[in-house]
Amino acid sequence: MDKVTKLFDTWAKGGRSEIMEREHRKTVTKFLRSLSFKKSFSFLDVGCGNGWVVREIATRKNCKIAVGIDKSKNMIKSALAKKISSKENYIQTDLKSWDYRGKFDYIFSMESLYYLVPMEPPLKKLYKLLKRGGQFFCGTDFYTDTKVTKRWKDQMKIPMDLRSKKEWVQMFKDIGFQTKTNQIRDPKSYKKWKREFGTLFIIGKK
Ligand SMILES: C[S@@+](CC[C@H](N)C(=O)[O-])C[C@H]1O[C@@H](n2cnc3c(N)ncnc32)[C@H](O)[C@@H]1O
Repeated sequence: MDKVTKLFDTWAKGGRSEIMEREHRKTVTKFLRSLSFKKSFSFLDVGCGNGWVVREIATRKNCKIAVGIDKSKNMIKSALAKKISSKENYIQTDLKSWDYRGKFDYIFSMESLYYLVPMEPPLKKLYKLLKRGGQFFCGTDFYTDTKVTKRWKDQMKIPMDLRSKKEWVQMFKDIGFQTKTNQIRDPKSYKKWKREFGTLFIIGKK
C-alpha cells in the first residue's frame, strides 16, 4: 500500500475524516452556496473522504447522480456508512487507474488533487471526464502564497505537489480550461492564514 493511502486509511479510522469535514466545511459551504445547478446534472467528487460533499450535493433538486471516489478503503467505508440517498455512489479507486467511461457535468475536489504528484496528468484526466461546458471546482488550502501551509509538506512526509496561485491557474489554462479563481477566507478563524488567504478555488470550464 502506498504512503498516501496508508495515511488516509489511518485518519479515517481515527475519526480525522470528521475533523477535516468540520474544518473544510467552513469555506467549502460558502463556495457551494455561490453555485447554482439549474439543469439536471451529474457530479463527481475526487478524494471524497467520508463523502460529506457528495451527501450534500445529492440533496440538490437537479442532481441525478453524485459519485465520490477515494483511494482509501476506510474513507469509502465511512462514506458508505453515512449514505442517506440512492443518488450517492462511492467507489474505492485511485484516480490514476480509474477506468470510467462516462462524463460528468461537474467535478469537485477539496484538498485532494495535490497528493497526485505531479498534478498535470490527473488534471488532464479530469478534463476528459468533463462534458463540454462542464466545470471543475478545485479547492486547495495548500499553496505557497499562504506562506504557512507549505510547512505541511515536511510535516506530512508524503508526496505533495506545492504550487503558487499563479502556477495553479497557469496549469489549468495549459490543459485547456477557461479558468477563474475564488478565494474564500474565514474571518472568524483563529488562524491568520485562514483569515488572510483562506481556501483557493480554481474553477475550470471545459
Ligand atoms: C485531505 S483529504 C480530503 C478529503 C475530503 N475532500 C474532505 O475535504 O474532507 C484527501 C483525500 O484524497 C484522497 N486521495 C489522495 N490521492 C488520491 C488519489 N490518487 N485517488 C483518489 N483519492 C485520493 C485521500 O485518500 C483522502 O481521503
